[in-house]
Amino acid sequence: MSGPTPHIDWESHADLVVVGGGVAGLTAARVAAKAGLAVLTLSKGGPADTATQYAQGGIAVVRAGLGHDSVNSHIADTCAAGVGLCEEPAVRSIVADGERALFMLTELGAEFDRGPDGALDSTREGGHSERRIIHAGGDATGAEVQRALGSAGVPVIFDAAVLRVLTDASGVTGVLARTAEGLGVVHAPSVLIATGGLGQLYTCSTNPEGATADGIALALDAGATVADMEFVQFHPTVLFAAGGLGRRPLISEAVRGEGAILVDADGRSVTAGVHPMGDLAPRDVVSRAIASRLRESGADHVYLDARALPGFSARFPTITASCAAVGLDPSADLIPVAPAAHYACGGVVTDVHGRTIVPGLLAAGEVARTGLHGANRLASNSLLEGLVVGDRAGQVAVERARLNVEATEVELRQAQTVPRTLLQALMTAHASVVRDGAGLASAAAALGSESASVTPSAGAAYEDAALTLAASAVLIAAALRTESRGCHTRLDHPDSDPRWADSIELSLGPDGRLRTPELEPVGAR
Ligand code: SIN
Repeated sequence: MSGPTPHIDWESHADLVVVGGGVAGLTAARVAAKAGLAVLTLSKGGPADTATQYAQGGIAVVRAGLGHDSVNSHIADTCAAGVGLCEEPAVRSIVADGERALFMLTELGAEFDRGPDGALDSTREGGHSERRIIHAGGDATGAEVQRALGSAGVPVIFDAAVLRVLTDASGVTGVLARTAEGLGVVHAPSVLIATGGLGQLYTCSTNPEGATADGIALALDAGATVADMEFVQFHPTVLFAAGGLGRRPLISEAVRGEGAILVDADGRSVTAGVHPMGDLAPRDVVSRAIASRLRESGADHVYLDARALPGFSARFPTITASCAAVGLDPSADLIPVAPAAHYACGGVVTDVHGRTIVPGLLAAGEVARTGLHGANRLASNSLLEGLVVGDRAGQVAVERARLNVEATEVELRQAQTVPRTLLQALMTAHASVVRDGAGLASAAAALGSESASVTPSAGAAYEDAALTLAASAVLIAAALRTESRGCHTRLDHPDSDPRWADSIELSLGPDGRLRTPELEPVGAR
């Protein structure tokens, strides 16, 4: 809902505004700038405050002519992990473009790990039937991707928050942003939202502090739809520490790919008999197996046993350092792990070129929902998607470049906010690895009764408003979906139901409430 008209300190013009400085945003900005567009890239944090920076495992890519892997096999694994909700044409389009994306990165100077013969090394992760995960720095793939894209000459304005995407009847006209220069308007015919995920909905997450669902709120406010919001992926193996809050260190699935096993305090396998792929089953399966073992035993963590892996510290230097920081040596000690929020499989609905239903509004990377992930993202498909769709979105922006747009009626948005600690506690208690109808309803009711109406113009209030809207979307979709599928496990509806083999879409009505496409207002908001 609209709010007051703010005082504007500065104005500028661009052909494309990119919101976010991770893999999708930088890729798009680079492609658009190469095509001659005036690109303004705004990132609310610093250069390393992106989820891309923390990605460990790698990039899932099928390389032509190598072994018996194939694009069809990668598509089949992706769709199996996505449990009936992947859109096969989208999966094919993105997966088939992987090798080109990898080439683009190596052209930029990205260095990936190689074997003794000089060929690119590859590993396996959960849900993959082949070793097709390319990695860098052992377990620091994201950092190398961020470094390579960051040194590609794309100027980024850091500490710059986009508060609204501005539109008129013809589509996008610009953004309202807060930078060190104050509140400003950028007049632009295209805006790419590449803000990453929403891990800060939960008390523990692998995501950076800035993963506050900003892009979900921006896109909904601008008239776009979101889908698959109930499918929040919990990574099974996040370093556990009693009372540990906020961003927690990931223990990459590649550790299991290289042979580590999951055991409980009695040394019993956690996944035996659960899935034919055992510890390398898709992520939702492994997280559920851990959650169920924890419920049975009353423990708060299980263990990853990597003691038999040769050369652990050389292969996994980031994980070795995280363990050393809490006094653990993975070659001698069991690593305590528990699931934590990791990835939003749903998001802003786009096609495989990043287009939303709002002309000029694009989204790519974790914030977007292209149809690649379905109900559960396959490991290491996210950097792949960010590269491929980011590249295409940069090209799409050329179509509207030099359109004469003028951003008018610049207003701040009125929004509901719930204090973050309360919101995280509610989501963690009621919308985590497992949920049920009563818990979801009580979380939605608490969100409704504890929320206050604000007009956030920056900082924590703005992030809290985005998180509150995203929490509502997750709770509404999770309550509507009376079945279990992928990352969404309902204890009161434990089976998949073929009648639910479709995505739940939500948009924002003029009253500021989320609604389904049938224009039915739903939930507390
Ligand atoms: C991991 O390294 O386990 C995470 C990779 C991913 O989330 O795709």
